[in-house]
Amino acid sequence: MKRFFLRASAILSIMFCLTLLAFSKNVDAAVERVPVSVTNARWYPLYHIAPPAGWVNDPNGFCTFKGEYHFFYQHYPYDVKWGPMHWGHVVSNDLVHWEHLPVALEPNQLYDAGGGCFSGSGIEKDGKLYLMYTGHVDLPVLTPEGIDRIESQNIAVSEDGVHFTKIKENPVLFVPKSDEIHQGDFRDPKVWSHNGKYYSIIGSRTPDATTGQILIFESPNLIDWTFKNIMAQGSENQGNVWECPNFATIDGQDVLIFSPQAVKPEGKKYLNVHQSVYMLGNFNYNTGIFTHGNFDILDYGFDFYAPQITQTFDGRTVLIGWLDMWENPFPEQADGWSCMMTVPRELHVRKGKLFTTPVKELESLRTSEKSYSNLTINKATKLDSVRGETGELLATVDTSKNFAIELRSSGKEKTVLSYDAATRIFKINRDKAGEGAGGEREVQLAPAGEMNLRIFLDRSSIEIFLNNGEAVMSSRVYPKSTSQDIVFVPQGGTLNLKNVTFYTLGQGIPQPNVK
Ligand code: FRU
Repeated sequence: MKRFFLRASAILSIMFCLTLLAFSKNVDAAVERVPVSVTNARWYPLYHIAPPAGWVNDPNGFCTFKGEYHFFYQHYPYDVKWGPMHWGHVVSNDLVHWEHLPVALEPNQLYDAGGGCFSGSGIEKDGKLYLMYTGHVDLPVLTPEGIDRIESQNIAVSEDGVHFTKIKENPVLFVPKSDEIHQGDFRDPKVWSHNGKYYSIIGSRTPDATTGQILIFESPNLIDWTFKNIMAQGSENQGNVWECPNFATIDGQDVLIFSPQAVKPEGKKYLNVHQSVYMLGNFNYNTGIFTHGNFDILDYGFDFYAPQITQTFDGRTVLIGWLDMWENPFPEQADGWSCMMTVPRELHVRKGKLFTTPVKELESLRTSEKSYSNLTINKATKLDSVRGETGELLATVDTSKNFAIELRSSGKEKTVLSYDAATRIFKINRDKAGEGAGGEREVQLAPAGEMNLRIFLDRSSIEIFLNNGEAVMSSRVYPKSTSQDIVFVPQGGTLNLKNVTFYTLGQGIPQPNVK
């Protein structure tokens, strides 16, 4: 106990000195800091969550409160690049029409000013909205143990769901002293309640920094926390830190979702710099241990990270992810903003796999519709009114022959989807998609006579849902606004298109003021 207090007071005094430093820097910075604004909306999404301007990364605090959905995000309002993290905030009553609210958290305390208010989650308790987040403080020197940061967990509370107060008990949680747990990386708490208690899982790694792990804590009140166990830990090539954990029981099955960093490519798998994955298993609330099998990729596209889940008012588990990837170029930075979120997706466990489908609420965004059925084509074909820079494409296609579908096409510029009937491999290629990074990603599908595609286009994003959630691929693309064609290309003689429907989406949703 004495050792714990000595350690806690040592940590607090370091934080105090650092914060004095940070404050003195911030005072200067505050004079100059002016939020950036959107200067060109050519790639700004119509119906996805994006920052009013400035930078956004992880989803945070996704929860329900007083009959509405609240969603927060890692945000830096003063530049188009990552900076000391704030929490941006939007609210919705249907998961698809979002209203921007004022920034919810700013880094301004001993425990968060020296780095930022890093990721975390939200929960309603006794009529108040509680946020649990990581206060990140960069140390100016390495400790003798080689630690470069202090990551502590903190609580902010709101009565009105708009204004938040950081509680005086903060930090409520430091990394447990243990030679099985890294003493620096300790972030991204996801909190939930079960049988009258609160649980929080936190991303971590082993002390040698080679293997990711997730820690679990228990609390009667969200303020006093007890370390329960290492809930799960990686094995060979499963990443060196496990960020942004989430847990839910979906269709009777316990599911752990997280974002391992630095998994090495294995053939065509794990080509993105970091991954987001899920594991099915069994969680034991007594021991705090999650027994599980291997992990599997959650999204096979180029751009998907740090997803966060919540339960809807009617009991569905819904996920929103960051529709971007660390270390990519972000061409929209030239326009005063950077990065965006995915559409909300419903999760189900079927056939021992996690299925991901767009939430039904997205249908309320549909405005006009154009449908075709039973078409057999023998050359590259565009269909009347099946085109756009935003919209939703549904297609049921015969899988006995190879085919391609070109999206956001001008002829020269295009994002190419293709299917190989012999291997059942479906690909997305963005080498000719416009500005930004190129490359190819793929997924192998289960045998089936036909393929069902549901594709969401939103100016600089493409999200492809295959076979009612069997696989999903999310990617950013940066074509010219005029590249709007959709071209169906038979590659084995003919192509049977059982159904094709195109909906325009999101007309009338307010857009940012372009300055
Ligand atoms: C994941 C992450 C989190 C951290 C946040 C900082 O993308 O690295 O682990 O809390 O971003 O912005």
